[in-house]
Amino acid sequence: MELHKRKFFSLLPVIASILFFFLKISIKTSQTKCSLLPHNHYWISSKRIVTPDGVISGAVEIKDGKVFSIVKEEDWHGYIRQGQIVDFGEAVVMPGLIDVHAHLDDPGRDEWEGFPSGTRAAAAGGITTLIDMPLNSEPSTVSEETLNLKIKAAKNRIYVDVGFWGGLVPDNALNATALERLLRAGALGLKSFMCPSGINDFPMTNITHIKEGLSILAKFQRPLLVHAEVQEDDLVKDNKNDAQLYSTYLETRPPSMEEGAIRNLLTISENTRVGGPSEGAHLHIVHLSDARSSLDLLKKAKSRGDSISIETCPHYLAFSADEIPDGDTRFKCAPPIRDAENKEKLWDALRNGDIDMLSSDHSPTLPELKLLQVGDFLKAWGGISSLQYVLPATWTSGRSYGVTLEQIASWWSEKPAKLASQHLKGSIAVGNYADIVAWEPESEFHLDENHPSHIKHPSISAYMGRKLSGKVLATFVRGNLVYKEGKHAPGACGNRLLAK
Ligand SMILES: *[C@@H]1O[C@H](CO)[C@@H](O)[C@H](O)[C@H]1NC(C)=O
Ligand SMILES: *[C@@H]1O[C@H](CO)[C@@H](O)[C@H](O)[C@H]1NC(C)=O
Ligand SMILES: [Zn+2]
Repeated sequence: MELHKRKFFSLLPVIASILFFFLKISIKTSQTKCSLLPHNHYWISSKRIVTPDGVISGAVEIKDGKVFSIVKEEDWHGYIRQGQIVDFGEAVVMPGLIDVHAHLDDPGRDEWEGFPSGTRAAAAGGITTLIDMPLNSEPSTVSEETLNLKIKAAKNRIYVDVGFWGGLVPDNALNATALERLLRAGALGLKSFMCPSGINDFPMTNITHIKEGLSILAKFQRPLLVHAEVQEDDLVKDNKNDAQLYSTYLETRPPSMEEGAIRNLLTISENTRVGGPSEGAHLHIVHLSDARSSLDLLKKAKSRGDSISIETCPHYLAFSADEIPDGDTRFKCAPPIRDAENKEKLWDALRNGDIDMLSSDHSPTLPELKLLQVGDFLKAWGGISSLQYVLPATWTSGRSYGVTLEQIASWWSEKPAKLASQHLKGSIAVGNYADIVAWEPESEFHLDENHPSHIKHPSISAYMGRKLSGKVLATFVRGNLVYKEGKHAPGACGNRLLAK
């Protein structure tokens, strides 16, 4: 007995070193699977690092997936001793983009996109986090059970971090138990429509539903995202004009549809004020297109203290109605892309802070549903495919307006992180996750069928055929180099972001 024990103890160091050996191997394989870099302590250096304190020349120290230190070039003499340096030279190093509005259509419609292709496209486009919309998947995410289906579908299939919005629909809006279960299961907030969504199991809400939804959201301190258009009359059925003309589509979705919805919404938005009955909840207007009356109303509500934020999308900033060719339904989305003067006003509003942030509203479908042979704007699927291209799209049109790198980082990272309650994301700051994109603003490329696109149906993108400026070199998610110059890390190591 004694002898056996002694033998065991004398073998302990051997056993320990064998265990340690396997541990090291398993750490190493998980790293090489998740990252194109073999180490988890290293530096990223560049002449242009976008930080909350301005653009600096220097280096960011990454350790165990987080930003460990940030050093200016003039201070780093003798400082960087150990670890590897990934030098991006003159390229811009910026917080990874956070896309708070993407439809990945998984589970159930992954022939439209799906988690794997969508998140690989995101990584190739510099997006390190995206929040998936509760509709266009099958079923819609409107309950604890359907959210669990999403969470399961994303397991080991995502290449960047993904969170989930839940749906506010008539079926759950007046049932506190149902909403609380959905929010407890991890939905980062809720989304609702004030007009038909086009998806059968995602019906529109009225103002009573929205008010009740806000009162539950207040307890959880989470936002309600609203598609703000109302349908007053059936303008599609009543319109007899040529459906191949973009102007015909515009007539069916005038700015008054946005304005009407926002007027209605503002009758209850004061509930979100400090001291109001739904303090802690927040209203977020998705994809604002009307930069006239709708925007004016929202500005007033914001200035009186209602908790409201506004997003718009690159396609409203890059295109205007007059340049959309007849029958080219790739440009169909709702609300629609409006006139050139409206576009100028959107840029003004974004630059002066009235519009808070950008999102892709990547909303793909099958080419046969998007590009109906007859080019029919009234029948084609509404939604712009853009996920991988939003950074160059924003930059290409923004450059002529004097947009700065800090503004891009604010609209695409800092503000979206706040909306989605991702407190350790949204900026390159010590303690935050090392979610980073390195890109070359000056590099131009022609987006055509030869371009390595990772979305499932690049041919239906409105950006296809354009010359764009801004090439993504590398994308890091929690310190893992998930994408570099055309190559992805093999592992789908993205995290599912569930609210707690
Ligand atoms: C409310 O939702 C809960 C949980 O989803 C469900 O069990 C219950 O039947 C619903 N109540 C009503 C009145 O629909
Ligand atoms: C909204 O719909 C609910 C039924 O789901 C109804 O009880 C309520 O009165 C409606 N509110 C308005 C303002 O129409
Ligand atoms: Zn959408």
